[in-house]
Amino acid sequence: SERTLVLIKPDGVARGLVGEVVARIERRGLKLVALELKNVADDLAAKHYAEHEGKPFYQSLLDFITSGPLVAAVVEGPRAVGAFRQIAGGTDPVDKAAPGSIRGDFALEVQENIVHGSDSAESAAREIELWFPGLS
Ligand code: GTP
Ligand code: MG
Repeated sequence: SERTLVLIKPDGVARGLVGEVVARIERRGLKLVALELKNVADDLAAKHYAEHEGKPFYQSLLDFITSGPLVAAVVEGPRAVGAFRQIAGGTDPVDKAAPGSIRGDFALEVQENIVHGSDSAESAAREIELWFPGLS
């Protein structure tokens, strides 16, 4: 079994999609092991998105992720990292996310794409420690 960090980003919370996203996670058979509504401080946002520092959309991404409450969750199950990336759909909701995925069903723009999921087991370990320090 594996764990992944999921964020329901401020656009997803503002649009009332928390229940929808959680339902899709649970329906797939993945389990919630932590879940919290949070207002994200600038330093946590910067650490979370450190890999994107220097990219043209970096500041805009930080402004977006700190723009309102989000839901952070740790999700567990067999191949949880890949399974959640699959139900999320590709980063660009129109060009890459299939209909039936969260992004393919609910998003139109590459930045406001509803959810985040860790992209590897290594990223998941780093991100879970960042968002839920000391979680056993
Ligand atoms: P996450 O699960 O959120 O990490 O998405 P991802 O792994 O599918 O994409 P990536 O890590 O490459 O980018 C992180 C986030 O930055 C994306 O989910 C988008 O919200 C945003 N993003 C990525 N590319 C662009 C872009 O070209 N322009 C803008 N404005 N935002 C982008
Ligand atoms: Mg990513």
